[in-house]
Amino acid sequence: MTPDELGRYLEERRILVDEALERYLPGAGDPPKEIHEAVRYSIFAGGKRLRPILVLAAAEAAGGQVEQALDAAAAIEFIHTYSLIHDDLPAMDDDDFRRGRPTCHKVYGEAMAILAGDALLTQAFILLSFTPPADQGEPLGAASMQTTAKARLRVIQEIAQAAGSKGMVGGQVVDILHEDREADLPTLQYLHTHKTGAMIRVCLRVGGILASAGPEQLEALTQYGERIGLAFQIVDDILDLEGNLEALGKQAGSDLRKKKATFPALLGIEESRRWARRLVSEAKQSLRIFADRGAALQAIADFVVMRQR
Ligand code: IPE
Ligand code: IPE
Ligand code: MG
Ligand code: MG
Ligand code: MG
Repeated sequence: MTPDELGRYLEERRILVDEALERYLPGAGDPPKEIHEAVRYSIFAGGKRLRPILVLAAAEAAGGQVEQALDAAAAIEFIHTYSLIHDDLPAMDDDDFRRGRPTCHKVYGEAMAILAGDALLTQAFILLSFTPPADQGEPLGAASMQTTAKARLRVIQEIAQAAGSKGMVGGQVVDILHEDREADLPTLQYLHTHKTGAMIRVCLRVGGILASAGPEQLEALTQYGERIGLAFQIVDDILDLEGNLEALGKQAGSDLRKKKATFPALLGIEESRRWARRLVSEAKQSLRIFADRGAALQAIADFVVMRQR
């Protein structure tokens, strides 16, 4: 894929994902409308939608269809957005801008922002617990119904684990504990692979599982996900130093202000860049078994290190 093709691909997918998010969220006027307004404010603020796009791309790489994975993709974006709303709260990173707008708590107040996060996390599992509606293709026979139900259960479990205290939340805990405190490389790796890597890794696995990927394919997707997940957070750390509010949609310099443990703080910018590039190149190597069907994931891996926001 050329950079232009990737740009068009990401844009098309972003629209598809946004339509799904709209479909699966309560309406702005549904009571109590204060919470649904706050939820929609943060969801429709213009995120990159990288995680849901990864779910869809993984499903396709494994030979499945986008439609099989669209609701799970939306659910993961709900969880991601909840994590951003809470991450920005005064008790955590205390940030005023997100996705190009004032943060949720700046507009709706802290209590409503906490509740908006809670609502999004819960909405993800409401959505995931529905079996696919019968109008998505042929009516299912008993056997394939069982396979689908089993895959769903596995997806729910894997997403819950990735989001929980042994995944993203665990990483956020270590992030908070290391404000103002030196972190060594293993700690930093733990922090980044958990606060950010776990949710990115699970995107690839969920796409694969819903497309009935075999063990080898699933392992390849997992390897890819782990590597781009860590690379993604290293680049996030670099952008926090080098970007600006207009480009990032969030205030740069947040990590320095909060004395966060980051890759550039420990290794310097150049060495951090080398880490990110090496991880992305390893990630791309794990895609070999998909041949041409891995083209989108290949291009997305490059996007992870090249991105400016
Ligand atoms: C930001 O994620 C938070 C991290 C885990 C680094 P993104 O950079 O994907 O944010 P959006 O979704 O595009 O706003
Ligand atoms: C956040 O990491 C990871 C999450 C789980 C939200 P950061 O705190 O670095 O993310 P940004 O820079 O605020 O988006
Ligand atoms: Mg943070
Ligand atoms: Mg933050
Ligand atoms: Mg950051």
